[in-house]
Amino acid sequence: MRSKATLDAWRERVDAALARHLPDDTREPRTLHAAMRYAVLGDGKRLRPLLVYAAGAALGSPPEDAHDDALDHAAVAIELVHAYSLVHDDLPAMDDDALRRGRPTVHIAFDEATAILVGDALQSEAFLVLSAAPAPADAVRAALRELAHAAGSRGMCGGQAIDMAMTGQSQALEALATMHRMKTGALIEAAVVMGGLLRGADTATIDALRRVGALLGLGFQIKDDLLDAEADSATLGKTAGKDQAQGKSTYMTLLGLDGARARLDAVARDLDAALASLTGRGNDNGRALADLAVMAVRRSR
Ligand code: IPE
Ligand code: IPE
Ligand code: MG
Ligand code: MG
Ligand code: MG
Repeated sequence: MRSKATLDAWRERVDAALARHLPDDTREPRTLHAAMRYAVLGDGKRLRPLLVYAAGAALGSPPEDAHDDALDHAAVAIELVHAYSLVHDDLPAMDDDALRRGRPTVHIAFDEATAILVGDALQSEAFLVLSAAPAPADAVRAALRELAHAAGSRGMCGGQAIDMAMTGQSQALEALATMHRMKTGALIEAAVVMGGLLRGADTATIDALRRVGALLGLGFQIKDDLLDAEADSATLGKTAGKDQAQGKSTYMTLLGLDGARARLDAVARDLDAALASLTGRGNDNGRALADLAVMAVRRSR
């Protein structure tokens, strides 16, 4: 990957910011704080924080900013909401998963009540961090609104509700795409859009970023469905083959392997076109965003 060094540096930057912002687990309630750190600081790919930085960079900001940069606050906030969504997604009442990021899920390593509270507290922490972003008040307010909308019943939570309702049922293709756009696409879209908002992007640029984020999010979840069927648990760090075992409604179950791959290729082509219209300004600033887009749809874990 051409921008590997930049992405590695951003990954270190967000990991340090996450460790700094999360509550200290020597403070009470220690178990809750330890479980929050356990949920977040494991081996995640950090795609959403990287997208925040890459969207900012696509608009021409330097890749290495001071560590109190507003983008760090958005990067931390989106990863906290994402980590919360994983903790709740793995609960027995939802996907009932025992493995996440290569180790026991939070409700196994701790207990179910703690896992519920970890999710609740991570979500609050996310908005606390984002509200303190060092950027103009209008931009911070717009980013808060973006994240709240993406996390709630019109976004991730709503998509999760549809996912649960559709388990064991078959869905029309368009309804499946809507579910994926909501449960996974919304947070990924918000990551890309927040990078633009905190860099003061104009409305047309935000619209272009939104289109990139939405396609990237849809492609990411189609790839997640494919990986569940094709990869092994050791590679994924989560239990493979669970979608079919649990009767989940996915691109694999609806279209089969070849059909799901063809849909992913079509989304990847649309994504390329959306990226070209965003970064087609003859400069190199959009390289990291383009590389992350490829990673999202072609990854092996
Ligand atoms: C997993 O997300 C859940 C989905 C939305 C598909 P990731 O694949 O980004 O999980 P981590 O953060 O790398 O663990
Ligand atoms: C998860 O979708 C979407 C979330 C909002 C967490 P999945 O249920 O497919 O995610 P994995 O496969 O457990 O990571
Ligand atoms: Mg799920
Ligand atoms: Mg799951
Ligand atoms: Mg999955």
